[in-house]
Amino acid sequence: MTRLALAPAFALAFTLAPALAQEAVQPEKTFALDPKPAVTGTTYMVAAAHPLAVEAGEAVLAGGGTAADALVAVQLALNLVEPQSSGIGGGAFLLYWDAATRRLTSLDGREKAPAAATPDYWLGEDGKPVGWWDAVIGGRSVGVPGTLKLLEEAHDRWGRRNWAGLVRPIAEMAGRGFGISPRLEASIAGATARGLGDFPAARAYFLTPDGTARKAGTTLRNPAFAATLRSVAARKSAALHHGPLAGEIVAAVRTEKNPGILTLADLASYEVIERAPVCAPYRGYEVCGMGPPSSGALTVGQILMLLEHFDMAAYAPGSGREAEGRHLLAEAMKRAYADRGLYMADSDFVRMPGGLLDPAYMTLRAQGIDRSSAGGKATPGNPPWREAALWSPDTDPDRPGTSHIVVRDAYGNAASMTTTIETGFGSRVMVGGFLLNNELTDFSRAPEADGRPIANRVQAGKRPRSSMAPTIVMKDGKPMLLIGSPGGSRIIAYVAQSLVAILDWNMPLADALALPHTVNRNGEKTDVEEGAEALAAGLEALGHEVTIRNLNSGLHAIRIDGRTLTGAADPRREGVAMGR
Ligand code: GLY
Repeated sequence: MTRLALAPAFALAFTLAPALAQEAVQPEKTFALDPKPAVTGTTYMVAAAHPLAVEAGEAVLAGGGTAADALVAVQLALNLVEPQSSGIGGGAFLLYWDAATRRLTSLDGREKAPAAATPDYWLGEDGKPVGWWDAVIGGRSVGVPGTLKLLEEAHDRWGRRNWAGLVRPIAEMAGRGFGISPRLEASIAGATARGLGDFPAARAYFLTPDGTARKAGTTLRNPAFAATLRSVAARKSAALHHGPLAGEIVAAVRTEKNPGILTLADLASYEVIERAPVCAPYRGYEVCGMGPPSSGALTVGQILMLLEHFDMAAYAPGSGREAEGRHLLAEAMKRAYADRGLYMADSDFVRMPGGLLDPAYMTLRAQGIDRSSAGGKATPGNPPWREAALWSPDTDPDRPGTSHIVVRDAYGNAASMTTTIETGFGSRVMVGGFLLNNELTDFSRAPEADGRPIANRVQAGKRPRSSMAPTIVMKDGKPMLLIGSPGGSRIIAYVAQSLVAILDWNMPLADALALPHTVNRNGEKTDVEEGAEALAAGLEALGHEVTIRNLNSGLHAIRIDGRTLTGAADPRREGVAMGR
């Protein structure tokens, strides 16, 4: 069953979280920078993070399945072949365009906190927030998963193919095995240094008997996941939320290292929530995405609405003025991330200002941007319909262990879904052949700062704030672009920059995704992707302090121009697009 969200109880304010600010570790670096030409077609298109998952989706589309049908196959296959990033042990947000009703819907399958969770959940015996990795690793970070229920809901609403027929081929693939990819090998090696070997099921599956990562090219069979999927084929999400597997999940969470408090009742009562998509106007387009508990659409929307006050087209790569455009992007990002930190959280639990995308508010905020000189860190603004500044900003970092799927089917339906188990390999707790999330670390670990509560603090049944930004850009009432990315809180910056590259700079889709990233999440320094040293010098000349770093997006996108479909995958990871 889906619950329809009531209109968010808008109005209010928080405080930015305490000095937990620390540089977000990226457990996964850019794997490769292979050039990946775009793929074109006229009938259907799918793009995701692994060729086997994309092939599974393509087979469904070729057989007359809808985007919702293909999504089931792609997500379950990703759970098998890209297990570190997403799956039925995690949560997801879906934007879906139903061509028959011409309606855009967003479904919230985000994990939620157990009913017994309290705001002091992440405080240690000394009353201080526990360290990041101490929180991540083990059952305590596991939120109630939502991805399988979301897939079932999408299939119930928009699927045409038999559910079991979508799931069984993936169960067979799990039984047959698949070749470990180079990226998975590298991810396992990275996670081995972070506790993966401390969890018996994960150790047996991902590591050799001598405790090292299984090697790329090795065939990895997952009979436990095959059995789980056979049960999912027969019982849909009930296979996970009720019955023996639910019991195994609760037992593992409560007994393995760093135990949690998840109960059978938490699993049984989980509901997917339909929410109104959040859309921001941008140069004649409507850029639509996922509202709270994700900060994705509001923050991407703010960045774009701030940039609309500048002639971004003048700053395209090759114009000789690109650094000026990147400066404006960074200044817009600072302001949007400042508002994100103070105001954004699960709007079922906290009253958020209703005017975060108010045009007059955005105009006022844009007036503070100096075209030719970097300002310092931005302070949050005063959006309309704000009751009082009662909150503290949340500055907890979050880590990128996430994946993005885009699908356009032969009927004109479109899906853009970002899906996650939070950091790479999630909590490391593995049950039924899949990993459980560590999404509860997406809450602020500190419940308050300066005597004021933090909007994104833990509360019973609340969904942690996300940065996931599954996006569908509408033009003349129809989708023209599907896009999204993993990347923790940098997701927002990756998506916003790509939208500027596509909509303002008219870049070909694959080139837009490959463009070097520049990111400022309202920090002292602007991050510039390795290899883009000329941009870094240009930004320094405009007053930015710059850090050159690896910026590992995993963008997937489909562009729709009349009958022509163009699919593209980020060169930084192993994803592909396929279509016809
Ligand atoms: N765990 C990543 C996100 O939800 O933003």
